[in-house]
This record gives sequence, C-alpha cells and structure tokens, in this order.
Amino acid sequence: MDLETLLYEVDADGIALVTINRPEKLNALTNQTLDELEHVFLHVDGNDAVRAVIVTGAGTKSFVAGADISQFRNLTALDGHRFALRGQAVFNRIESLSKPVVCAVNGYALGGGCELALHADIIIAGEDARFGQPEINLGIMPGAGGTQRLLRAVGKSLATQMVLTGESIGARRAREAKLVSEITQPELTVDRATALAETIAAKAPLAVRLARESLRKAEDSDLDTGLRFERHAFTLLAGTQDRNEGIRAFQEKRPALFKGC
Ligand code: COA
Repeated sequence: MDLETLLYEVDADGIALVTINRPEKLNALTNQTLDELEHVFLHVDGNDAVRAVIVTGAGTKSFVAGADISQFRNLTALDGHRFALRGQAVFNRIESLSKPVVCAVNGYALGGGCELALHADIIIAGEDARFGQPEINLGIMPGAGGTQRLLRAVGKSLATQMVLTGESIGARRAREAKLVSEITQPELTVDRATALAETIAAKAPLAVRLARESLRKAEDSDLDTGLRFERHAFTLLAGTQDRNEGIRAFQEKRPALFKGC
C-alpha cells in the first residue's frame, strides 16, 4: 500500500516510527488515514524485526486534532455507526498488537487524537500538549473508544467533565490525572519516546509481550481473572531460554542477550 497520509519507518534497533502526516490540517484523521494506520499496524504485528512502535504527529502544532470534520458533513445515522465501528476497530488493533506502542504527543490531541493516544501503552507529552474530547461541540460524542477509555484512564469525574464540556486539559493536568507518564520539552517528545522504546526493545520479547498483555488485563477484567492471567503468563516465561539467559547474565554480571524463545 502506498502511504499518503502517514510516514512509516523502522530503524536498525527495530523501533517503528509512525507519523500522521497532514500538518496543514493539524493531522486530522480521514478514512484514508485510518486505512493506512490499520495497514501499518498489520505490518508491525507480522514483522519480528519490529520490537516497539512510536506514534506521533507531523509538525509542531498538533498530534491529531480529531477525525476530519469535513467527512461529517452529510453523515447519516448509519454512516455514523459505520464510522464509530471503523474507528474502534482500527484503534483496538493497537491493543491487540504484540509490540508496545508509545505515543509522542505535541500540541492538540483532540477527539480521535485523544482516543488514539488513549489506546497506546505509554504517552509522552510535550509541555504544549492539550488533550480533549470536543465532539460535544459538534452535536456528537466520542465514538472511537473515548468515553470508555478516558473514564478508565482518568476516572469518572474528569472524564465526564471533559466529554460533556468539550474543554481540553493541558499536559500538566494530564500528568496529574495519570493520562500521561512524562512531560518533556515539545521538541524532545519523539527522542524520549524512542529512548523508552529502545529500553523496552532490549528486553526479552516474550516477557515484554506477556507483561504487556497482563497489564492490559488489569484495565478490563476483575482482579481474580487478571491474577489468573498473570500466573499463567509467569508460568510460560519461567520455561523460556530467555529466562535462563536473564538469570545467568545477572549471575555472570554481564548484559543479557535475549533471543525471543
Ligand atoms: N478536521 C478537519 N480539519 C481540521 C480539523 C479537524 N478535526 N482540525 C483542524 N482542521 C483544519 C482547519 O480547518 C484548518 O484548515 P484550513 O486552514 O484549510 O482552514 C487547519 O486545520 C488549521 O486549523 P485552525 O482551526 O485554523 O487552527 P487553530 O489554531 O485556529 O485552531 C483547533 C486549532 C484544534 C482549536 C481547531 O482547529 C479545532 O477546534 N479543530 C477541531 C477539533 C475537533 O473538534 N476535533 C474533534 C472532531 S470529531
């Protein structure tokens, strides 16, 4: 597939950088962008050389300013249903990926942009980042996971305030609310995301994959189910060669050389 609204590259360390590339429209998401994101996520998932993914937006002003509003002009209820289904399906692919995803957010992360970031494993925000769900101002509401994931991320009170007022929050508030893990200077978000991705990429791939899945279980299952998943994942890892290598490397005081088996 020729990518027209995304840039996609994989570096020598296996870090994939996905850049949403419509800066003149503040990287608003079109149907084409969703198709291209899905295509890239499929490639990432099936490519063992990719160890972690960074998602960011081109330019300095915006991560993603939401779905492209021009697509909503003649929307019927059925179109709306299809649009929400599509958005949820593409963003859910992030969750089911076998690699961790770090979002580097500069400027606006609004509507679908906030929802996209909410699907990532880690969010690094520039000091200028703004997160919001302004759909209510357009007579609609979040449809790509926003109400469900924002509430899980920041709790009922702040999520309700953001969704019903349409008002956005800045990077500092987002960190206080545990939506983002770190704030950096705006020009350093991708560098910081890359450093984190490289650290994770150097770990045992199966351990990263199962630990990530186990953490995800904590979001949407009861404690007993989550603990059961954690036990089974731990059991699997205990039998790997990488576990053997990790323990030996520690005892021999050298860096571990993980192989993914
Ligand atoms: N969909 C389509 N185009 C968008 C867009 C969106 N979600 N967000 C911004 N753009 C376009 C603008 O129409 C403008 O295009 P133009 O130059 O051809 O007129 C360009 O991006 C720059 O945006 P502009 O509004 O001029 O920048 P600003 O700094 O004055 O305001 C925002 C920035 C983010 C506050 C404002 O663009 C905005 O409110 N965007 C919509 C956010 C939204 O409601 N998202 C949820 C959609 S469901």
